[in-house]
Amino acid sequence: EETLRTVAAARNLRIGAAVNDRALETDNGYRDKLKYEFNSVTPENAMKWVNVEPEPGVYTWARADAIVSFAQENKQMVRGHTLVWHGGLPTWVSNGSLSDQELRAALQRHIQTTVKRYAGRVAVWDVVNEVLAEDGTLRQSIWLKRLGPGYIADAFRWARAADPSAKLYINDFGAEWSTPKRAGLYNLVRDLRAQGVPIDGVGFQTHSLIQDPMPDTTPLTQLKSTLQLFAGLGVDVAVTELDVRLKLPVDEGKLAAQGEVYRRAAGACLAVARCVSLTMWSLTDKYSWVPSGVPGWGAAHPLDEKLGKKPAYLQLRSGLTDR
Ligand code: G3I
Repeated sequence: EETLRTVAAARNLRIGAAVNDRALETDNGYRDKLKYEFNSVTPENAMKWVNVEPEPGVYTWARADAIVSFAQENKQMVRGHTLVWHGGLPTWVSNGSLSDQELRAALQRHIQTTVKRYAGRVAVWDVVNEVLAEDGTLRQSIWLKRLGPGYIADAFRWARAADPSAKLYINDFGAEWSTPKRAGLYNLVRDLRAQGVPIDGVGFQTHSLIQDPMPDTTPLTQLKSTLQLFAGLGVDVAVTELDVRLKLPVDEGKLAAQGEVYRRAAGACLAVARCVSLTMWSLTDKYSWVPSGVPGWGAAHPLDEKLGKKPAYLQLRSGLTDR
Protein backbone atom coordinates (compact mmCIF):
# COMPACT_ATOMS: atom_id res chain seq x y z
CA GLU A 1 0.00 0.00 0.00
CA GLU A 2 1.08 3.55 -0.68
CA THR A 3 2.24 5.61 2.29
CA LEU A 4 2.45 9.38 2.69
CA ARG A 5 6.15 8.94 2.07
CA THR A 6 5.84 7.06 -1.21
CA VAL A 7 3.24 9.41 -2.67
CA ALA A 8 5.13 12.53 -1.55
CA ALA A 9 8.45 11.24 -2.87
CA ALA A 10 6.83 10.66 -6.23
CA ARG A 11 5.95 14.38 -6.29
CA ASN A 12 9.43 15.38 -5.13
CA LEU A 13 7.98 16.70 -1.89
CA ARG A 14 9.37 16.27 1.61
CA ILE A 15 6.61 15.07 3.92
CA GLY A 16 7.49 15.46 7.57
CA ALA A 17 6.44 15.12 11.17
CA ALA A 18 7.47 16.69 14.44
CA VAL A 19 9.19 14.05 16.54
CA ASN A 20 8.46 13.46 20.20
CA ASP A 21 11.85 12.27 21.44
CA ARG A 22 10.44 10.23 24.34
CA ALA A 23 8.03 8.38 22.06
CA LEU A 24 10.89 7.68 19.68
CA GLU A 25 12.74 5.95 22.53
CA THR A 26 9.88 3.95 23.94
CA ASP A 27 7.20 3.27 21.32
CA ASN A 28 8.01 0.85 18.49
CA GLY A 29 4.70 1.42 16.71
CA TYR A 30 5.46 5.13 16.67
CA ARG A 31 8.96 4.54 15.30
CA ASP A 32 7.53 2.44 12.50
CA LYS A 33 4.99 5.06 11.49
CA LEU A 34 7.67 7.72 11.49
CA LYS A 35 9.95 5.61 9.36
CA TYR A 36 7.48 4.44 6.73
CA GLU A 37 5.24 7.49 6.44
CA PHE A 38 7.74 10.38 6.38
CA ASN A 39 10.90 11.44 4.58
CA SER A 40 11.51 14.48 6.79
CA VAL A 41 11.53 14.99 10.55
CA THR A 42 11.57 17.98 12.88
CA PRO A 43 12.53 17.59 16.54
CA GLU A 44 9.44 18.92 18.34
CA ASN A 45 11.44 20.02 21.40
CA ALA A 46 14.81 18.26 21.50
CA MET A 47 16.82 21.04 19.80
CA LYS A 48 15.34 23.94 21.73
CA TRP A 49 17.94 25.85 23.70
CA VAL A 50 16.54 24.78 27.09
CA ASN A 51 17.04 21.16 26.08
CA VAL A 52 20.54 21.38 24.59
CA GLU A 53 22.21 23.77 27.06
CA PRO A 54 20.17 23.82 30.28
CA GLU A 55 23.08 25.38 32.19
CA PRO A 56 25.74 27.61 30.62
CA GLY A 57 28.32 25.42 28.89
CA VAL A 58 26.55 22.20 29.93
CA TYR A 59 25.47 20.53 26.69
CA THR A 60 22.86 17.77 26.59
CA TRP A 61 22.61 16.59 23.01
CA ALA A 62 21.48 12.99 23.51
CA ARG A 63 17.82 13.41 22.56
CA ALA A 64 18.57 15.59 19.56
CA ASP A 65 21.33 13.19 18.47
CA ALA A 66 18.90 10.26 18.69
CA ILE A 67 16.51 11.95 16.28
CA VAL A 68 19.29 12.87 13.85
CA SER A 69 20.66 9.29 13.89
CA PHE A 70 17.18 7.87 13.33
CA ALA A 71 16.74 10.21 10.38
CA GLN A 72 20.08 9.18 8.88
CA GLU A 73 19.28 5.48 9.24
CA ASN A 74 15.97 6.04 7.50
CA LYS A 75 17.18 8.49 4.83
CA GLN A 76 15.09 11.34 6.14
CA MET A 77 15.78 15.04 5.95
CA VAL A 78 16.03 16.91 9.27
CA ARG A 79 14.51 20.35 9.77
CA GLY A 80 16.31 21.83 12.78
CA HIS A 81 13.98 23.67 15.15
CA THR A 82 14.72 26.29 16.39
CA LEU A 83 17.74 28.54 17.00
CA VAL A 84 16.25 31.89 18.05
CA TRP A 85 12.92 31.97 19.83
CA HIS A 86 11.40 33.74 22.82
CA GLY A 87 10.21 30.34 24.06
CA GLY A 88 12.11 27.22 25.03
CA LEU A 89 14.86 29.25 26.69
CA PRO A 90 16.95 28.05 29.62
CA THR A 91 16.49 30.08 32.79
CA TRP A 92 20.07 31.32 32.70
CA VAL A 93 19.25 33.06 29.40
CA SER A 94 15.74 34.29 30.18
CA ASN A 95 16.19 35.48 33.77
CA GLY A 96 17.89 38.74 32.89
CA SER A 97 21.17 37.97 34.64
CA LEU A 98 23.30 38.43 31.50
CA SER A 99 24.31 41.86 30.23
CA ASP A 100 23.25 42.82 26.69
CA GLN A 101 26.76 42.04 25.47
CA GLU A 102 26.85 38.67 27.22
CA LEU A 103 23.40 37.82 25.90
CA ARG A 104 24.48 38.55 22.33
CA ALA A 105 27.64 36.46 22.75
CA ALA A 106 25.57 33.61 24.23
CA LEU A 107 23.18 33.68 21.27
CA GLN A 108 26.03 33.67 18.76
CA ARG A 109 27.71 30.78 20.53
CA HIS A 110 24.42 28.85 20.75
CA ILE A 111 23.83 29.22 17.01
CA GLN A 112 27.39 28.38 16.01
CA THR A 113 27.71 25.40 18.34
CA THR A 114 24.38 23.89 17.38
CA VAL A 115 24.60 24.43 13.62
CA LYS A 116 28.24 23.22 13.44
CA ARG A 117 27.42 20.09 15.43
CA TYR A 118 24.80 19.05 12.91
CA ALA A 119 26.47 20.43 9.77
CA GLY A 120 25.74 18.10 6.86
CA ARG A 121 23.09 16.25 8.90
CA VAL A 122 20.49 18.97 9.44
CA ALA A 123 19.55 20.26 5.99
CA VAL A 124 17.23 23.08 7.04
CA TRP A 125 17.13 25.35 10.08
CA ASP A 126 14.30 27.41 11.49
CA VAL A 127 16.80 30.12 12.34
CA VAL A 128 14.31 32.57 13.80
CA ASN A 129 10.89 31.56 15.06
CA GLU A 130 7.86 33.80 15.72
CA VAL A 131 9.68 37.13 15.55
CA LEU A 132 6.56 39.06 14.48
CA ALA A 133 3.69 40.45 16.53
CA GLU A 134 0.08 40.20 15.34
CA ASP A 135 0.15 43.80 14.08
CA GLY A 136 3.09 43.01 11.79
CA THR A 137 5.77 44.83 13.78
CA LEU A 138 8.63 42.93 15.37
CA ARG A 139 7.62 41.02 18.50
CA GLN A 140 8.73 42.64 21.75
CA SER A 141 10.83 39.64 22.71
CA ILE A 142 13.89 39.44 24.91
CA TRP A 143 15.91 39.49 21.67
CA LEU A 144 14.42 42.68 20.27
CA LYS A 145 14.46 44.46 23.62
CA ARG A 146 18.00 43.56 24.53
CA LEU A 147 19.80 43.27 21.17
CA GLY A 148 17.75 45.51 18.87
CA PRO A 149 16.29 44.58 15.46
CA GLY A 150 19.69 43.62 14.02
CA TYR A 151 19.56 40.30 15.88
CA ILE A 152 17.60 38.75 13.02
CA ALA A 153 20.19 39.49 10.32
CA ASP A 154 22.98 38.51 12.74
CA ALA A 155 21.33 35.16 13.46
CA PHE A 156 21.11 34.29 9.75
CA ARG A 157 24.73 35.31 9.14
CA TRP A 158 26.01 33.29 12.10
CA ALA A 159 24.05 30.26 10.96
CA ARG A 160 25.31 30.57 7.37
CA ALA A 161 28.91 30.79 8.54
CA ALA A 162 28.47 27.68 10.71
CA ASP A 163 27.08 25.53 7.86
CA PRO A 164 27.07 27.13 4.40
CA SER A 165 25.09 24.22 2.95
CA ALA A 166 22.08 24.43 5.30
CA LYS A 167 18.89 26.12 4.11
CA LEU A 168 17.95 28.92 6.49
CA TYR A 169 14.33 29.74 7.28
CA ILE A 170 12.24 32.28 9.09
CA ASN A 171 9.20 30.54 10.62
CA ASP A 172 5.95 31.95 11.99
CA PHE A 173 2.24 31.38 12.56
CA GLY A 174 -0.78 33.49 11.67
CA ALA A 175 0.69 34.58 8.33
CA GLU A 176 -1.08 31.94 6.22
CA TRP A 177 -3.71 34.40 5.06
CA SER A 178 -4.07 38.13 4.53
CA THR A 179 -3.26 39.51 7.99
CA PRO A 180 -1.15 42.47 9.15
CA LYS A 181 1.32 39.86 10.32
CA ARG A 182 1.61 38.44 6.83
CA ALA A 183 2.32 41.93 5.48
CA GLY A 184 4.97 42.44 8.16
CA LEU A 185 6.58 39.10 7.37
CA TYR A 186 6.58 39.83 3.65
CA ASN A 187 8.25 43.21 4.12
CA LEU A 188 10.77 41.78 6.56
CA VAL A 189 11.85 38.98 4.20
CA ARG A 190 11.98 41.36 1.25
CA ASP A 191 14.14 43.85 3.18
CA LEU A 192 16.47 41.19 4.59
CA ARG A 193 17.01 39.76 1.10
CA ALA A 194 17.65 43.25 -0.28
CA GLN A 195 20.34 43.67 2.38
CA GLY A 196 21.98 40.41 1.37
CA VAL A 197 21.02 38.54 4.52
CA PRO A 198 21.26 34.77 3.84
CA ILE A 199 17.63 33.72 4.14
CA ASP A 200 16.52 30.83 1.94
CA GLY A 201 13.00 30.10 2.99
CA VAL A 202 9.83 31.02 4.82
CA GLY A 203 8.03 28.50 7.00
CA PHE A 204 4.30 28.76 7.65
CA GLN A 205 3.43 26.89 10.84
CA THR A 206 -0.23 26.50 9.82
CA HIS A 207 -1.72 25.72 13.23
CA SER A 208 -4.51 28.07 12.32
CA LEU A 209 -6.80 26.05 10.05
CA ILE A 210 -9.03 25.50 13.06
CA GLN A 211 -12.14 23.42 12.53
CA ASP A 212 -15.36 23.48 14.51
CA PRO A 213 -15.96 22.09 11.77
CA MET A 214 -16.04 24.54 8.86
CA PRO A 215 -13.82 23.75 5.85
CA ASP A 216 -14.27 27.13 4.21
CA THR A 217 -12.29 29.27 6.62
CA THR A 218 -10.22 32.12 5.28
CA PRO A 219 -6.83 30.74 6.36
CA LEU A 220 -7.42 27.56 4.38
CA THR A 221 -8.67 29.26 1.23
CA GLN A 222 -5.71 31.67 1.19
CA LEU A 223 -2.91 29.24 1.96
CA LYS A 224 -2.00 28.62 -1.66
CA SER A 225 -1.96 32.28 -2.65
CA THR A 226 0.14 33.08 0.42
CA LEU A 227 2.69 30.42 -0.49
CA GLN A 228 2.77 31.83 -4.03
CA LEU A 229 3.14 35.39 -2.76
CA PHE A 230 6.25 34.56 -0.75
CA ALA A 231 7.70 32.31 -3.44
CA GLY A 232 7.63 35.48 -5.55
CA LEU A 233 10.36 36.86 -3.29
CA GLY A 234 12.69 34.20 -4.64
CA VAL A 235 12.67 31.99 -1.52
CA ASP A 236 11.51 28.46 -0.83
CA VAL A 237 8.35 28.08 1.21
CA ALA A 238 7.19 25.28 3.49
CA VAL A 239 4.29 24.26 5.66
CA THR A 240 6.15 23.52 8.89
CA GLU A 241 3.74 22.67 11.72
CA LEU A 242 0.40 21.65 10.24
CA ASP A 243 -2.30 20.44 12.59
CA VAL A 244 -6.08 20.79 12.50
CA ARG A 245 -7.45 20.79 16.00
CA LEU A 246 -11.05 19.88 16.75
CA LYS A 247 -13.28 21.12 19.50
CA LEU A 248 -13.92 18.18 21.83
CA PRO A 249 -15.83 15.93 21.85
CA VAL A 250 -15.08 14.64 18.39
CA ASP A 251 -17.71 13.16 16.08
CA GLU A 252 -17.70 11.71 12.58
CA GLY A 253 -18.70 14.97 10.95
CA LYS A 254 -15.79 16.81 12.52
CA LEU A 255 -13.35 14.09 11.55
CA ALA A 256 -14.58 14.20 7.96
CA ALA A 257 -14.28 18.00 7.83
CA GLN A 258 -10.80 17.75 9.30
CA GLY A 259 -9.87 15.29 6.56
CA GLU A 260 -11.00 17.79 3.96
CA VAL A 261 -8.77 20.45 5.49
CA TYR A 262 -5.72 18.18 5.40
CA ARG A 263 -6.45 17.30 1.78
CA ARG A 264 -6.74 20.92 0.73
CA ALA A 265 -3.67 21.99 2.68
CA ALA A 266 -1.62 19.32 0.92
CA GLY A 267 -3.06 20.49 -2.40
CA ALA A 268 -2.04 24.08 -1.67
CA CYS A 269 1.58 23.10 -1.12
CA LEU A 270 1.66 20.79 -4.15
CA ALA A 271 0.29 23.55 -6.36
CA VAL A 272 3.23 25.84 -5.59
CA ALA A 273 6.51 24.77 -7.16
CA ARG A 274 8.62 26.32 -4.41
CA CYS A 275 6.68 24.65 -1.60
CA VAL A 276 9.36 22.10 -0.79
CA SER A 277 8.10 20.45 2.39
CA LEU A 278 4.93 19.79 4.35
CA THR A 279 5.37 18.91 8.02
CA MET A 280 2.70 17.79 10.49
CA TRP A 281 3.08 18.98 14.10
CA SER A 282 2.73 15.41 15.34
CA LEU A 283 1.68 12.44 13.29
CA THR A 284 -0.63 11.08 15.98
CA ASP A 285 -3.15 12.11 18.62
CA LYS A 286 -1.26 9.78 20.98
CA TYR A 287 1.44 12.46 21.41
CA SER A 288 0.10 15.96 20.91
CA TRP A 289 0.74 19.46 22.22
CA VAL A 290 -2.90 20.43 21.57
CA PRO A 291 -4.91 19.11 24.56
CA SER A 292 -2.57 20.81 27.05
CA GLY A 293 -1.73 23.79 24.81
CA VAL A 294 -5.32 24.60 23.80
CA PRO A 295 -7.68 23.21 26.49
CA GLY A 296 -10.98 21.88 25.14
CA TRP A 297 -9.45 21.00 21.78
CA GLY A 298 -7.66 17.93 20.48
CA ALA A 299 -7.63 15.07 17.95
CA ALA A 300 -5.63 17.32 15.64
CA HIS A 301 -3.45 14.82 13.80
CA PRO A 302 -3.64 12.24 10.96
CA LEU A 303 -3.37 9.12 13.16
CA ASP A 304 -5.51 8.39 16.21
CA GLU A 305 -4.38 7.47 19.72
CA LYS A 306 -3.82 3.87 18.64
CA LEU A 307 -1.82 4.99 15.60
CA GLY A 308 -4.77 4.05 13.38
CA LYS A 309 -5.56 5.96 10.19
CA LYS A 310 -8.14 8.72 10.55
CA PRO A 311 -10.04 10.28 7.65
CA ALA A 312 -7.36 12.98 7.94
CA TYR A 313 -4.65 10.47 7.01
CA LEU A 314 -6.57 9.12 4.02
CA GLN A 315 -7.45 12.59 2.77
CA LEU A 316 -3.91 13.82 3.21
CA ARG A 317 -2.62 10.93 1.14
CA SER A 318 -5.24 11.53 -1.50
CA GLY A 319 -4.37 15.26 -1.51
CA LEU A 320 -0.79 14.25 -2.26
CA THR A 321 -1.92 12.03 -5.12
CA ASP A 322 -4.38 14.43 -6.84
CA ARG A 323 -3.83 16.36 -10.05
O1 G3I B 1 9.95 17.38 29.39
C1 G3I B 1 9.29 18.03 30.48
C2 G3I B 1 8.96 17.04 31.56
O2 G3I B 1 10.15 16.52 32.07
C3 G3I B 1 8.14 17.76 32.63
O3 G3I B 1 7.75 16.85 33.61
C4 G3I B 1 6.90 18.41 32.02
C5 G3I B 1 6.11 19.21 33.04
O4 G3I B 1 5.56 20.36 32.49
O5 G3I B 1 7.32 19.31 31.02
C6 G3I B 1 8.02 18.64 29.96
O6 G3I B 1 8.38 19.59 28.98
C7 G3I B 1 7.32 20.11 28.20
C8 G3I B 1 7.59 19.74 26.73
O7 G3I B 1 6.66 20.38 25.91
C9 G3I B 1 7.53 18.24 26.48
O8 G3I B 1 6.23 17.76 26.73
C10 G3I B 1 7.34 21.62 28.37
O9 G3I B 1 6.94 21.94 29.70
C11 G3I B 1 6.38 22.27 27.37
O10 G3I B 1 6.52 23.67 27.45
C12 G3I B 1 6.72 21.80 25.98
O11 G3I B 1 5.79 22.36 25.07
C13 G3I B 1 6.21 22.47 23.73
C14 G3I B 1 6.06 23.94 23.31
O12 G3I B 1 6.36 24.06 21.94
C15 G3I B 1 7.00 24.86 24.09
O13 G3I B 1 8.35 24.59 23.78
C16 G3I B 1 5.34 21.58 22.87
O14 G3I B 1 5.61 20.20 23.18
C17 G3I B 1 5.63 21.83 21.40
O15 G3I B 1 4.71 21.13 20.59
C18 G3I B 1 5.48 23.32 21.11
O16 G3I B 1 5.83 23.51 19.75
C19 G3I B 1 5.64 24.84 19.25
C20 G3I B 1 6.76 25.11 18.27
O17 G3I B 1 8.02 24.89 18.89
C21 G3I B 1 6.68 26.53 17.71
N1 G3I B 1 5.36 26.79 17.14
C22 G3I B 1 4.21 26.46 18.01
C23 G3I B 1 4.30 25.03 18.51
C24 G3I B 1 3.07 24.63 19.32
O18 G3I B 1 2.95 25.40 20.47
